[in-house]
Amino acid sequence: MNSTTGLLGEIADVGRDAKRGGYSRHAFDAPEHDLRTWFVERAQRLGLDVETDRNGNLWAWWGAPGPDAVVTGSHLDSVPGGGAFDGPLGVTSALAAVEALQAKGFRPAKPFAVVVFAEEEGGRFGVPCLGSRLMTGTIDADRARALRDPDGVTFWEAAAKSGLDVDRIGAEPERLGLIGRFLELHVEQGRGLIDLGSAVAIGSTVIAHGRWRFSFSGQGNHAGATLIADRVDPMLPAAETVVAVRRLATTRADARATVGRLVPTPGGTNVIASTVDLWLDARVPGPVTPELVEDISQAARTAAEAEGCSLTVTRESYSDDVVFDEKLRRDLGEWLGEVPELPTGAGHDAAILAGFVPAGMLYVRNPTGISHSPEEFAEAADVEAGARALAEVLERLAA
Ligand code: GLV
Ligand code: MN
Ligand code: MN
Ligand code: MN
Repeated sequence: MNSTTGLLGEIADVGRDAKRGGYSRHAFDAPEHDLRTWFVERAQRLGLDVETDRNGNLWAWWGAPGPDAVVTGSHLDSVPGGGAFDGPLGVTSALAAVEALQAKGFRPAKPFAVVVFAEEEGGRFGVPCLGSRLMTGTIDADRARALRDPDGVTFWEAAAKSGLDVDRIGAEPERLGLIGRFLELHVEQGRGLIDLGSAVAIGSTVIAHGRWRFSFSGQGNHAGATLIADRVDPMLPAAETVVAVRRLATTRADARATVGRLVPTPGGTNVIASTVDLWLDARVPGPVTPELVEDISQAARTAAEAEGCSLTVTRESYSDDVVFDEKLRRDLGEWLGEVPELPTGAGHDAAILAGFVPAGMLYVRNPTGISHSPEEFAEAADVEAGARALAEVLERLAA
């Protein structure tokens, strides 16, 4: 049998990022294409029928598709310079679980699928969970088609080039309606499991989160010939906004707010930037994330005015707090025994689906407490414990 660690080993060299460290695997790029090809081949070897849905998500069916399906899976794309586990752990564990169940002679009584969602991290087109948002109609298809990557390539162009029929992307209520239960296994992304003495946890909640783009415009100019008094430099209000993000986030309980991406154009050492784009990732439990962002926007507007710059703020994505399905959590707790429940600040396709179908998550301990970084880790024994737990609950769900 292929262990989950063995399957992770098979893809360990795909999409390594020599410059950043870790992995860079983005929608429709060569590493992601290779991973998808690998997945199709692996799933077919298990006798699963693989199809690509209208939004580029891969579905590997064990038996015929149908209603009340048990669906499990995760994603294969990564953040820039991400870890080996965020996403692939859920996909490889699902494949290993199917193989383990087949080896013991189990045949699902319910329709059963392993799914790979596209562009979960939003690492290329900016909106996270794009595949599950499109399928559920959480994002408008026209808006998705118009999203641009850092090189200006639209989702439309990239998807078409990869062979997807871009005229057909968008909500798929019929497919969504087939899902009876959705379960995503994922590496734990913070310190949540380190002190709990457990390799595995059951997901309870996901905190509200969103992304906003702040675009500051000024006057591009010469770094030596332009007197300080004559400058309209968008880097100034951008920098003040970065500081305001930290200051204002500390005024709200349990808020997380991050500027991880700041892009000056044209980006020359001896050039005063003409524009600076700043991406804000903000997450606060409850309904107050937009309020925090409004306070940050006010600080950004004040700083922009002081420099004579203009500012536009665009909301790229937003999701409210999610509570995973109560009944599924109860069942998982009963079947897995002494397993803790864990809230998370990370977003997941399971959280998008939770607005439509009963969805839940399992987390596997990460002894570094670090994620979205090459240092993200899981011990082999914990990885296998997670896959065993997944197989056990899938067997019960699909019986
Ligand atoms: C995705 O992993 C996110 O929570 O940003
Ligand atoms: Mn992630
Ligand atoms: Mn993930
Ligand atoms: Mn995620």
